[in-house]
Parts: sequence; structure tokens; C-alpha cells
Amino acid sequence: MKILVLGGAGYIGSHTVYELIDKGEDVVIIDNLETGHIEAVHPKAKFYQGDIRNREFVDSVLDNEKNIDAVIHFAANSLVGESMVNPLKYYDNNLCGTKVLLESLVAHGIDKIVFSSTAATYGEPDKTPIMEGDRTEPTNTYGETKLAMEKMFKWTGVAHGLRYVSLRYFNACGAHPSGKIGEAHNPETHLIPLILQVPNGKREAISIFGDDYPTKDGTCIRDYIHVLDLAQAHILAVKYLMEGNESNVFNLGNGVGHSVREVINAAEKATGQSIKVQMAERRAGDPAILIASSQKAKDVLGWKPEHDDIEEIIASAWNWHKNHPNGFNS
Ligand code: UFG
Repeated sequence: MKILVLGGAGYIGSHTVYELIDKGEDVVIIDNLETGHIEAVHPKAKFYQGDIRNREFVDSVLDNEKNIDAVIHFAANSLVGESMVNPLKYYDNNLCGTKVLLESLVAHGIDKIVFSSTAATYGEPDKTPIMEGDRTEPTNTYGETKLAMEKMFKWTGVAHGLRYVSLRYFNACGAHPSGKIGEAHNPETHLIPLILQVPNGKREAISIFGDDYPTKDGTCIRDYIHVLDLAQAHILAVKYLMEGNESNVFNLGNGVGHSVREVINAAEKATGQSIKVQMAERRAGDPAILIASSQKAKDVLGWKPEHDDIEEIIASAWNWHKNHPNGFNS
């Protein structure tokens, strides 16, 4: 198969490209390198640097790259905090970018797309675990734009026959076993890479954002899912569309919740070092508990997450971070 990966130089995009190439697929990447890294681009992928908001650029790639079977779309801004400070940046990149992309895909007769969505589409959940049919009421601009992107695919599908799979990830983490690629955000806001900055000597202590939540130890509970399991789900979703199945939405998580304190304890075990903790105020907009039901992805896509042990997941992240304390710059 020939797969176009938008955002293939980013964290989850680059891991998906590695897995696709490992399976012998032909991969073309578009990435504007705003948050992606050229070092994360797989050497066997064909790379085009450019922005999906630029119709001429997208058209030129699609004119050049004949016979694309399906598209996987990761190209978006994805920081919850930033999306609240600069909402229009998110509307511009995530929504305007996807609109231009869809215009070009329709014009080129490409009708299958797998989309990187998020648990943030649900907002504050009414119950645990979260199911795909639950209420979607995002509490931040990031989630709002991702939900609007899902709807853009839906209505484009109705009009033009495009079929899509939307994958709503919970907390992506971990790194590729080769040690060549891993998580490298700037600024970093995610819990596991921030914890690992402590044993890496880049941070004095990890702040726990609130210990008065209604959970077993008072800290927030999340569903941590290995980036390679996410990558496998994208590949299965492409297969699902190639087999002619209808558009669909799937949650991707392990279905198990870990509190912030449990994650810190697991990181101490995985690194063999003690990790200093300091208490901080709650972070605005953080739901107490987010856990996925991924039964649908298991039943329909045949997805089997292989990395369900939090200590093992953190060990794979540590294998990356200890050798790349400054991300791809080291
Ligand atoms: N946390 C801390 N200290 C830190 C950083 C995080 O205590 O220094 C806590 C947060 O309050 C939260 C948990 O660790 O309870 C996880 O936080 P992350 O920022 O790693 O992840 P989120 O759950 O906030 O965000 C994730 C994805 C987003 C997605 C969101 C859906 O990273 O892309 O889930 O709600 F939008």
C-alpha cells in the first residue's frame, strides 16, 4: 500500500511511519516541521516539507504521488493549555488546514482517511469507562477543533463519498524500542516526559497538580497507552477502510487508570532513581478520571494493545529520554 502521512515527523506520526515501513508499506510524509522533527522522519519515507493550509502545495504533492491508497492525518496543534490562550491558532491550523486538505483529497479522488483524534472530544465524562457514543462536550479549544474535524470528515463523506476512521486516543506515551525516536515536545507539558526530566537532571522535582480529587490517592487518574499500540491501531484502521467498511470512531486506551502518584512510583522503579515531588494547585480544566473503553476497537478492528504495564511503558520512554535529554537536539 501507499500511505500519505500528514504530520509524520511528530510524536505519534513518526512511530506510525516506523511501523508502516516495518510492514513493507510505501510511505509519503507531509510535515511543516513546526512541531515535528526532521530527525524523526524515517529514512525510507518520501518527505515533503510544507503546510496543509497551502492548497497549491498539497495539490502539487498529490499530483506528484499517484496511487495513494489512504491518508493518515496527524497534522495539528495539540497542546490543551496553548489552545486556551491562543484559540484561533487552533482553528486556523486544525480546522482550516483540514478543510484545505479535504478539498485537495476530494479533487484527487482520495477517499480514505484515518484521523488522529482525542479523548479531549468528550470533555468532563459522566461515567467511566468512556464509550464512543458518550456525550461529546469539549472543555478546551483543542478538543473542540478535533471534534469539529471529525464532523468535517463526516459531512464531506456524505457529499463526496469519503470514508474515515477517527481514533480518539487517551494518554499517549512510551517510545520506539530502537531508541531512534521518542516524545520531544517544546514546551513539554505531558506528565511522563516531565517526570523523567527529574532523573535526567533537568528538573528539580515533579509538580503534582492537585491531590484533592475524588480518587483513591487524591491525584488525577488517566489511561496511559503506548505509542506503538496507537501506531498499530492506525494500520488496522487503514486495513478496515481498504476492506470497504463504513466510517467509524474508536477510543484507544488500555482501559486501566493510573493516578499521578502511581505513575511517579512506576517511574522510580523504571529508572531506579528516587523522584522528588512537590505539590501544586490543580491545573484548570483537568477532569479527575479519564479511562477509555476500547472494546469497540478490539471487536471491530481486532486491535490488541501489547504494552499494558505502566512500568514497562515508562521504561521504554526512559530508554529514549536518558539518551536524548534535549530531545532531537542531543
Ligand atoms: N500532571 C501533573 N504534573 C505535571 C503534568 C501533568 O500532575 O507536571 C497531571 C495532570 O494534571 C493530569 C495528568 O498528570 O492529571 C496527565 O497530564 P498530561 O498533561 O500528561 O495529559 P492530559 O491528561 O492532560 O492530556 C491528555 C493528552 C491531551 C488530551 C487530553 C484529553 O495529552 O492531548 O489527554 O483530556 F487532550
